[in-house]
Amino acid sequence: MTMTTARKVELRRGLKDVYLDTTEASFIDGGVGKLLYRGYNIHDLAEQSTFEEVVYLLLRGKLPTPRELEAFDAGLRAERSIPRGVVEIIQRVKDAHPMDVLRTAVSALAAFDPEVKDNSKEALVRKGLRLTAQAPTIVAALERIRKGLRPVEPNPKLNHAGNFLYMLFGKEPDEEAAGVMDVDFILHAEHGANASAFTARVVASTLSDLHSAVVAAIGALKGPAHGGAAEEVMKMVKEVADPERARAYADALLSRGDRVMGFGHRVYKAEDPRARHLRERSRRLGEVKGQPQWFQILQRFEDEIMFPYRAKGIYVNVDFYAGSIYYLLGIPEDLFVSIFALGRIPGWTLQVVEQYTNNMLIRPLLEYTGPMDLPFVPIGQRG
Ligand code: SDX
Repeated sequence: MTMTTARKVELRRGLKDVYLDTTEASFIDGGVGKLLYRGYNIHDLAEQSTFEEVVYLLLRGKLPTPRELEAFDAGLRAERSIPRGVVEIIQRVKDAHPMDVLRTAVSALAAFDPEVKDNSKEALVRKGLRLTAQAPTIVAALERIRKGLRPVEPNPKLNHAGNFLYMLFGKEPDEEAAGVMDVDFILHAEHGANASAFTARVVASTLSDLHSAVVAAIGALKGPAHGGAAEEVMKMVKEVADPERARAYADALLSRGDRVMGFGHRVYKAEDPRARHLRERSRRLGEVKGQPQWFQILQRFEDEIMFPYRAKGIYVNVDFYAGSIYYLLGIPEDLFVSIFALGRIPGWTLQVVEQYTNNMLIRPLLEYTGPMDLPFVPIGQRG
């Protein structure tokens, strides 16, 4: 019998503060709340670019010239349709949670993609762009089908964000709504080794395919500790209903040991730099729609109730204001996390490309704490 030598292992639960690899996708300084996509500050990108430019930046590695962007955008617009077979699958599973439907439909798209087995960088990028273009069509088709309506065909005259809202509601969005959706997609596009991107990397590290990696990432993003927070924030805000009730509601929640969703972050110990762009649009949209109370409630949480938590490095994250924006745009709460996924597909694609480019199977260890070398008792001799 081989004796196991005693040894001390250092557990890093949740892989907290563990660097997996290098990346050129994004830089995050959690201490000061700084985020760069391929070297460009998220504030510049949110205020001066479009989602199409950001997708080009992430997947082509540089900001496009006007001509490059025009051709790239035309390519995305041409890829928005989904096969009839996938629409039929959506019809079959229309009563499931929208993230389950998105996950199922992306999985089905693999069966229709002629390049599914090609893991060359060029094919991965082409597939990632196709999924970026098709995923909004899936989410919008689900919303129409579960309301008993026919899905709306993509409109090639509208940009990515505007077309998503058009397919969702069956009418062209106003400029404000399309603009808010565009910034939201930019802010959600890429964020390093977050749980869903890490999941995509693990799948890619076994040399599986992009569709499998994105399906797995969708499963990871769905959780309320990750992408599901925006839906929980809006549920909380609607339960509070009146800014004057926020304090009592929060006291009860926190005294139960529950967490205020939309606050805290594994990396940011200062304000999530993405939050300011959503905070301002939540305030403005609330005023335009004549529903200022939701922003007022959110501000009570941020400026009063959760203010003391800043001492522990707990600030708002990207999800805190996103839910109120989607709600004010008329989007049902259970679709919120799938909107996060729509923005994040380019980031997942880039993380998969980087993993393949310099791959090493991702396979950490677990420290065994169970019994050792037990004598086996055959079934006939067990009591
Ligand atoms: C996203 O990783 C990414 O990049 C993710 C993301 C992306 O773009 O992909 O940025 C998107 O997922 C944002 C996070 C959305 N999730 C939420 O808003 C859910 C609520 N937040 C948390 O549950 C929590 O903050 C996490 C999960 C986000 C991070 O948790 P950690 O890093 O594992 O930290 P922890 O759970 O160990 O908490 C540390 C302390 C604890 O207090 P102590 O036990 O040390 O006294 O902070 C407290 C926690 O209780 N805390 C909170 C809190 N979040 C952490 N207390 C109250 N409310 C909260 N929201």
